Amino acid sequence: MNYYWITAIAVTAAILLVALRRYIAGILRLRNGLRRVARDNLDMPLMPDLPRGLRAAEHDLKTIASRVRDLERAAASERFGLNAILGSISEGVFIVDPKLKIRLGNTGLEKIFGLAGSPSGKSVMETFRNLDIQKLVEEALREGRPRRGEIAIEQGRDLRIFEFSVSPLLLEGGETGAVVVVHNITKIKSLERVRREFVANVSHELRTPLTIINGYLETLLEGGLEDRVMAENALGVMFRHSERLKHLTDDLLVISQAESRSVPLDLQPVELRELIRRVVAQLDEPIRAQGAEIRITTADEDLAIEADAVKLEQVFVNLLDNALKYGNRPGLTVEFYAERLGPKVHLRVSDNGPGIPYEDQEHIFERFYRVHKDRARHTGGTGLGLSIVKNVVELHGGEVSLQSLPGTGSTFQVVLPAAQSPRLSSAA
Ligand SMILES: Nc1ncnc2c1ncn2[C@@H]1O[C@H](COP(=O)(O)OP(=O)(O)OP(=O)(O)O)[C@@H](O)[C@H]1O
Ligand SMILES: [Mg+2]
Repeated sequence: MNYYWITAIAVTAAILLVALRRYIAGILRLRNGLRRVARDNLDMPLMPDLPRGLRAAEHDLKTIASRVRDLERAAASERFGLNAILGSISEGVFIVDPKLKIRLGNTGLEKIFGLAGSPSGKSVMETFRNLDIQKLVEEALREGRPRRGEIAIEQGRDLRIFEFSVSPLLLEGGETGAVVVVHNITKIKSLERVRREFVANVSHELRTPLTIINGYLETLLEGGLEDRVMAENALGVMFRHSERLKHLTDDLLVISQAESRSVPLDLQPVELRELIRRVVAQLDEPIRAQGAEIRITTADEDLAIEADAVKLEQVFVNLLDNALKYGNRPGLTVEFYAERLGPKVHLRVSDNGPGIPYEDQEHIFERFYRVHKDRARHTGGTGLGLSIVKNVVELHGGEVSLQSLPGTGSTFQVVLPAAQSPRLSSAA
């Protein structure tokens, strides 16, 4: 009997031992599986002959692994999307924590500020070395509301203007940081300034002749008409100023058409000698009045360019008109010279007038720019002629430049595409 019990206990113990070893082996495998998940290795090994009691745990472990894999995939795809968006925008974007340390910055930011590598981990001050930026971010964080500011920053020789938009943001740990978007608005600001100056200049140019005309009209209405000499004089002045107004509005129309490209060019081969003769004929009166000598030299008799004849005539009328107006001295000579160089025709209008001071030369093609503002007012110039020249020449795909030695004279060079076809236009 004793022997029977001992055998039974031994067999039961052996069975329990085997079962226990299977359980322990199973638990160890599950633990290995858990470790793999903990180390981000989500490929679950096969777990054959796992005791039935542990199969539910194995199933749960595999479910966790698959969930973690799904979450990682979603996070990677979100990261990819975020990086793609941040990397593709030209604006600078960065996120700061409450201590003003940069958590993340995009490549746009690195490019805008020429940063050597990612600014992540550095402070705002360390990255930009600018107190205004630091203050703006600090204010947004302190007040807990979006702040926006325009900050001028010197970059090399240029002064650029940036708009910083700072929006407070709740970070993962529950603390408040901010996302900052930086936009380079230098060009917009300069366009705004050009527009403001243009409006101011036009108003000023319109106001002067209108005030004069108004004054004379008042005088005439208040009895000036009785005095015939005085009335004729007033009408003469009013006529000159109304001409000036017409000249100004015509010029403004040409500029606006050239800039908006609203009137297409009527391109055709234009023979140069013919064109220059028409230009000279148009200004015959002031040429005679001044006794100016006009020389026309073309390297090739049939030299022709591909151009809008009417618009190009305006270009050379403007240049000749300037040479006569500002070179008003005895012995004035204006020379037209044209030659073909490869696919381009180079045309020069030179005078032996007073020339243009060096400091004015770089501004000479700007709208409303005049060298001697008071004298120009006397001669009736509005400072639009050369800006029209530049616009029209560029509209033709050409270039215009100035060379002038003050005291010696000026040369305006216009480079335009040569005509392809031998058919020449003589139409004005
Ligand atoms: N050939 C030249 N010699 C000397 N100064 C010149 C010459 N051409 C232009 N300038 C200077 O350049 C300025 C700008 O010329 P621009 O033709 O643009 O304007 P403007 O002659 O004053 O007016 P507008 O041509 O609109 O009647 C002139 O005011 C003048 O001072
Ligand atoms: Mg002019």
